[in-house]
Amino acid sequence: MSVCPPWSAERAMSIVAEHARQRGALLPILHALQETFGCIDDAAIPLLAGALNLSRADVHGVVSFYHDFRRTRPGRHVVKMCRAEACQAMGADALLDHARRSLTVDAHGTTADGAFSLEPVFCLGNCALSPAVMIDGVLHGRVGPERFDALTADLRAQDQAEDAR
Ligand code: FES
Repeated sequence: MSVCPPWSAERAMSIVAEHARQRGALLPILHALQETFGCIDDAAIPLLAGALNLSRADVHGVVSFYHDFRRTRPGRHVVKMCRAEACQAMGADALLDHARRSLTVDAHGTTADGAFSLEPVFCLGNCALSPAVMIDGVLHGRVGPERFDALTADLRAQDQAEDAR
């Protein structure tokens, strides 16, 4: 489950300090911020520009160039669907269409109830078991529409049980 702590400039600065000496520090810092907060908060842009001696436009340009970086908080569950060659050959496009219909969400979007974010990605390193899907960091291979629905239904059931506690 993805539960993100709220933005904290202090925590962000300690992440910056960990990576600042690295060459090309911006990308690892952005990844670490997203890992920690679930998305790249607006407040991160001026903070990184100041810390790394870059312009705000430079930082903003990098954040918007890479689809991996989210500007809004993800859903409770993050579903990554591979769209690279091996998975495409095994029906990844049809599976993505199915997922969009089944969850009622667009690619790169989050369902209205905040339960799922759907993220098309390129290669999950599970090409032999395509089509591949990763849900909350757990890899699933040979996922067809029925299995996809079963996986997401399980998560919804778990969420309902947790919320009822
Ligand atoms: S092509 Fe889909 S996991 Fe590699």
